[in-house]
Amino acid sequence: MPNMLNIALPKGRLGERVYDIFEAAGYACPSLKEPNRRLIFENEAAGVRYFWSKPSDVAIYVERGAADIGVAGKDILLEYSPDVYELLDLNMGKCRMCVAGPADFRDDISRTLRVATKFPNIARSYYAGQSREIDIIKMNGSIELAPIVGLSDVIVDIVETGKTLAENGLAPLKEIVPISARLIANKARFKFRRDEISTLCENIDRLLREAAEE
Ligand code: PRP
Repeated sequence: MPNMLNIALPKGRLGERVYDIFEAAGYACPSLKEPNRRLIFENEAAGVRYFWSKPSDVAIYVERGAADIGVAGKDILLEYSPDVYELLDLNMGKCRMCVAGPADFRDDISRTLRVATKFPNIARSYYAGQSREIDIIKMNGSIELAPIVGLSDVIVDIVETGKTLAENGLAPLKEIVPISARLIANKARFKFRRDEISTLCENIDRLLREAAEE
């Protein structure tokens, strides 16, 4: 099906909300709402094929052209700098990339700061901007544990509601950058299908603006 528009969506609640917008914009794929574990759905009549991808992998599918477009968090785009076009801020999945740690944390600049994170590139670039020497400890999840058990001094992580920090006796210390979901496109596919992808982008943008005004 070379003419299908391939769309990689992040599996989970955000992806479901994003799909609802795509559906309202005219790119419905009803089989996607069926309760099953399939990862790929297509609607030949509408010319769309959706994939449910692990959120952090969407940009890989798009960068390599397995998907024409997709929806990825700005955190992933900043961390991995995939070679894709960022077309639209969907203003969904909003959160903040923060430095967090014990609320009473005071940085001792005579010591190397130990920073635990899933986002080493974001952390490195933030502290380079502060000319602060750091030791990055790359983690895969439950980052909040690191400063509590003495593995790190602080963490660089995503804060959404702030509940995980609060319930573990930690606090956001500094916001690095606000994060939200972005519509991204493969560069070559965008050039090839420019009109189609631009129309989709405009339709989605219009729906988001209308929803924001309500
Ligand atoms: C993310 C993030 C924080 C938490 C923040 O973790 O790493 O731990 O969500 O959300 P909150 O501010 O609403 O509490 P995720 O759920 O992705 O799991 P992880 O620990 O495996 O990274």
